[in-house]
Amino acid sequence: MKKIAVLHGPNLNRLGKREPEIYGTATLKDLEKLIRVEARKLGVSVSFFQSNHEGTLIDRIHALADRGTEGFIVNFGAYTHTSIALHDALKSVAPRPAIEVHLSDIKKREAFRRHSYTAAACINMISGLGFPGYVQALQQLAKL
Ligand code: DQA
Repeated sequence: MKKIAVLHGPNLNRLGKREPEIYGTATLKDLEKLIRVEARKLGVSVSFFQSNHEGTLIDRIHALADRGTEGFIVNFGAYTHTSIALHDALKSVAPRPAIEVHLSDIKKREAFRRHSYTAAACINMISGLGFPGYVQALQQLAKL
């Protein structure tokens, strides 16, 4: 069974409470439930990890790759717009593919959100579709 890891970055543990007008009222648990249902349909295995810390996310990417994870779905939250280190972490586990997902459309928000450093290390970026964006990312990785 293909192993896919879903990584959530800073503040995504606050989904449901955090700026609901942008991110909605459903929680991270709700999101993970939805992804699990899709994973079952696709016959892939999924794991989840959330951290508010850049280095912790980097350590987890390395460990997951060394333990056989074959693909990543990542939403690094605000680190998307700042972190060359997370970009390099994804590159360091190549050729395992990563797809970047954003709940909101980062191109249509503040100027400081328009650029993603981490997307350059990903095979695709899905932005602005809400939870279905993760389902699409999973379908794309399952097909590879
Ligand atoms: C986000 C967009 C980022 O700009 C923001 O910092 C987040 C969430 C999204 O999913 O829309 O934390 O990644």
